[in-house]
Amino acid sequence: MKILVINGPNINLLGTREPQIYGYTTLDDINQELVEYSKTFLEDKIELVFFQSNIEGEIVNKIQQSSQFEGLIINPAAYTHTSIAIADAIKAVGIAAVEVHLSNVSTREDYRKISYVSDSCIGVVAGFKKDSYKMALLGLYNYVKERI
Ligand code: DQA
Repeated sequence: MKILVINGPNINLLGTREPQIYGYTTLDDINQELVEYSKTFLEDKIELVFFQSNIEGEIVNKIQQSSQFEGLIINPAAYTHTSIAIADAIKAVGIAAVEVHLSNVSTREDYRKISYVSDSCIGVVAGFKKDSYKMALLGLYNYVKERI
């Protein structure tokens, strides 16, 4: 099973960026932990491919080119609250996607309570810092497995 993991703007700064909100773990470490989690708790055959960009169009391009993947884990970061283009791209390719947030966006500023991406996704995980990605992978893996 091939899963694409996309992170949006400023997620490359994890570790030093507002650690009280996002935690102290770097993006590289989160990605590495996800690989280890999949091998330990899921199966060795999961192939995870990681992509991070601060540019909306690059994220849209990556989603458009995702036909070899069975699933998508996406933290659209600030684009969550603005990007019809990312939502449309997920719908256009029809990939099973899970939206992820490190922080609990529904307890923060009002503008973070709106997601343009959620209704293109099978589920949303928010608020568990780095563990949000693992929970998203578990849910996505079970969802995809039932359908192959
Ligand atoms: C975030 C939440 C967004 O509101 C914010 O713009 C981010 C990170 C999160 O993972 O908690 O950059 O997506």
